[in-house]
Amino acid sequence: MKKISLTGIKPTGTLHIGNYFGAIKPALELAKEYDARYFIADYHALNTVKDPEELRANIREVAAGWLAAGLDPEQVIFYRQSSIPETFELTTQLMAFTAKGLMNRAHAYKTAVQENIEKNGDPDAGINMGLFTYPVLMAADIILFDSDVVPVGKDQVQHVEMAQDIAQAVNANYKGQVLKVPQAAVVESVAVVPGLDGRKMSKSYNNTIPLFAPEKTLRKLIMRMVTNSQTVEEPKEPGTSQIYLLYKLFANEGEQSALAARYRAGGMGWGEAKEELFRVVNRELSPMRERFQSLLAEPAGLDRILGRGAEKARPIAAATVRRFRKAAGID
Ligand code: TRP
Repeated sequence: MKKISLTGIKPTGTLHIGNYFGAIKPALELAKEYDARYFIADYHALNTVKDPEELRANIREVAAGWLAAGLDPEQVIFYRQSSIPETFELTTQLMAFTAKGLMNRAHAYKTAVQENIEKNGDPDAGINMGLFTYPVLMAADIILFDSDVVPVGKDQVQHVEMAQDIAQAVNANYKGQVLKVPQAAVVESVAVVPGLDGRKMSKSYNNTIPLFAPEKTLRKLIMRMVTNSQTVEEPKEPGTSQIYLLYKLFANEGEQSALAARYRAGGMGWGEAKEELFRVVNRELSPMRERFQSLLAEPAGLDRILGRGAEKARPIAAATVRRFRKAAGID
């Protein structure tokens, strides 16, 4: 039997090229080898996104985005967290085995408290219980589907470790393998994806290139990328150029060495390098952008796909909750 991989996608903003190389592509690669279960963590997003129109749009955009990028809903069980009520029952079950002190140590919560203290305010200002108990909901997401591995970025490893702790506490208490203990699979990004300003591409730096930007916007953003003041004539070093580093992610090997040679020869200005970059980025993204637009144009179709995913997911989830109930004496 194939091992099970599971990951959650928080619908909190527009997908960008950094997400594509850092999360989407590696997860789709893993889905070839594993029995994959990928879901939209809409209740996790609720902690921060309080505008209903915004949340609804975010959910549709990530669903359409992952499908457009190649997620095959026949191969991957693809669903919304909110469609699986067992998630919330397991969350309550796990609460009884989660030390409050464990939650106090969660990085996201600690950072929020620290920021409040630095502002001389109430340490708990703006912190809701959803944020405080975030790791329990995430542990339920993971444990519910008997996950073996959880592909996540480095920032989420602590959460997976907490899910391990919680599952182990349950198993130790009931002296048996009631819940499967998951492992984190850290997604080592293929490369750092450079952002518009030369720093790593990240929503928090506001330097992203949206994955599905219209062609004109894409071109404008690329033309706006920060470069140094070298003249057209000067030979340039590809290895330190953000434009070249981004180009490498989209171009084949022949194209990469050809552009590197033009850099080193001199006579090519940054404007021209950016044109080359735009050409390869648009080549890869334009078919995806078209699929994305047509998926978004028909929300009922998206709902159908996610609904079928939920139908496949629920019996698995129900079995886990039943196992817990039986072990706990609530049967
Ligand atoms: N916390 C994850 C993030 O912010 C999203 C998430 C929710 C998740 N539940 C999960 C990831 C379960 C992996 C497994 O990106």
